[in-house]
Amino acid sequence: MKPRKGQLLELGIEKMAFGGKGVAFQDGFVVFVEHAAPGDRVLAKVYKKKKDYAEARAVDIIEPSGVRVEPPCRYVPFCGGCQWQHIGYQAQLEFKQGFVAEALERIAGLKDFLVEKIIPSDKVFGYRNKMEFSFSTRAWLPPGQFKSGGPRPPFALGLHVPGTFHKVIDMDECLLQPPDGNKILKLVREYVEKAGLPAYDLKTHQGFWRFVCLRHSDAREEWMVNLVTAEERGDILAPLAEGLIMQVPSIRTVVNNITRRRAGVAVGETEKILAGDGIIEDHIGPYRFSISANSFFQTNTKAAEKLYQRVAEFAELSGGEMVLDLYCGTGTISIFLARKAARVVGLELSEIAVADAHKNCRQNGIDNCHFIAGDIRDTLSLVQGRPHVVVIDPPRAGMHKDVVQKLLDLSPPIIIYVSCNPSTMARDLAILKDHYRLERVQPVDMFPNTYHVESIARLAKNGKKD
Ligand SMILES: C[S@@+](CC[C@H](N)C(=O)[O-])C[C@H]1O[C@@H](n2cnc3c(N)ncnc32)[C@H](O)[C@@H]1O
Repeated sequence: MKPRKGQLLELGIEKMAFGGKGVAFQDGFVVFVEHAAPGDRVLAKVYKKKKDYAEARAVDIIEPSGVRVEPPCRYVPFCGGCQWQHIGYQAQLEFKQGFVAEALERIAGLKDFLVEKIIPSDKVFGYRNKMEFSFSTRAWLPPGQFKSGGPRPPFALGLHVPGTFHKVIDMDECLLQPPDGNKILKLVREYVEKAGLPAYDLKTHQGFWRFVCLRHSDAREEWMVNLVTAEERGDILAPLAEGLIMQVPSIRTVVNNITRRRAGVAVGETEKILAGDGIIEDHIGPYRFSISANSFFQTNTKAAEKLYQRVAEFAELSGGEMVLDLYCGTGTISIFLARKAARVVGLELSEIAVADAHKNCRQNGIDNCHFIAGDIRDTLSLVQGRPHVVVIDPPRAGMHKDVVQKLLDLSPPIIIYVSCNPSTMARDLAILKDHYRLERVQPVDMFPNTYHVESIARLAKNGKKD
């Protein structure tokens, strides 16, 4: 019998699904279970029922799986930031490795390729170099913390309750950022409590405080605080910036992004520098990058270095090649490959990212990279010459099918596909599979305690020997 919404089911969790939920079967009908782990026997309440599947939430663990661990974060059952803190790190790595292999076999129908052992992240907590905390007028407190009958706090500062756009969990700390980030969060909250201006309300579009975005450089142990507000109020923000710099000496700069847009996006139409020089600097391998409040930069710096090193190994460059870096962002992969190639051409949508890419090349003494801003659907045909290696690192949605077709026309001997979504990577590789052989794939863990996994696939044009 198919489960009904609201029904309580006793289920055995068989495996994890990409998306982070456990997979169980009720009379052959698939049920995805939140907060579960393979090997668990749980009592789960169905909250969604579709034609082919149901979704349920574990309300009681009848028999815990051997892979379970005690999550160190108290916001775990409520916060959307980490889905897998209740699973030991070794098991997380195995599940992620499985996602990559399974997507390529099941979605792309590929076989006879090597899946290398997943590269783990050095840090399992404190690894994120960027966090975005939201203000809300609707504080969501974990059960027990909210005193019944007592007044709700006037604002919350923290991360969103999953599936809501305006409810924010009021949090003192997030374990994914280095400890000083939590100190900064606390200082900002204390100041906001006294400052007398309201948090921004995403329903009424009234209020002042919108986001606190923190960026951290591991290499230089320095912080950027970006206060995102709805108006410019130097009289309120200057004393806050001054106090932060005094109390946390590792803060290099404090900036203020001002946005009057209604959408909940932490990027300002204007930016004011309140303290310092508006940037921090970080290193990936031997290269130095200046990062401003709105620059794209990989969020786990150490893992990014391992990812790029593996991209370079997969590219097997000997110095004379032309490399095409598609979706190149701020040129980090281009720069990583530049000294091993004759020239690198990077294509990227964002003009700001391309300006950063040029700047990053200059400050690293790289002079053989050329970047073109614009949609790859238009710019790919502007590329002169036939690249030997094409590196592709698209957003989660993967490549547009026109781009895949243009890539086939370009016919490079080697393609290195870097992906943060095994499903869309598999979909794109399926289109290439009549012309390219998938030789090997390297999963890399950039985001411990989440189900996300990065992977690098090396494809060789049919007829070309490994
Ligand atoms: C996953 S990021 C890769 C960034 C870079 N390779 C890195 O490692 O830092 C994907 C990039 O693709 C860019 N992008 C998205 N759609 C695009 C399009 N249609 N044409 C060109 N670039 C695009 C985004 O702006 C973003 O910088």
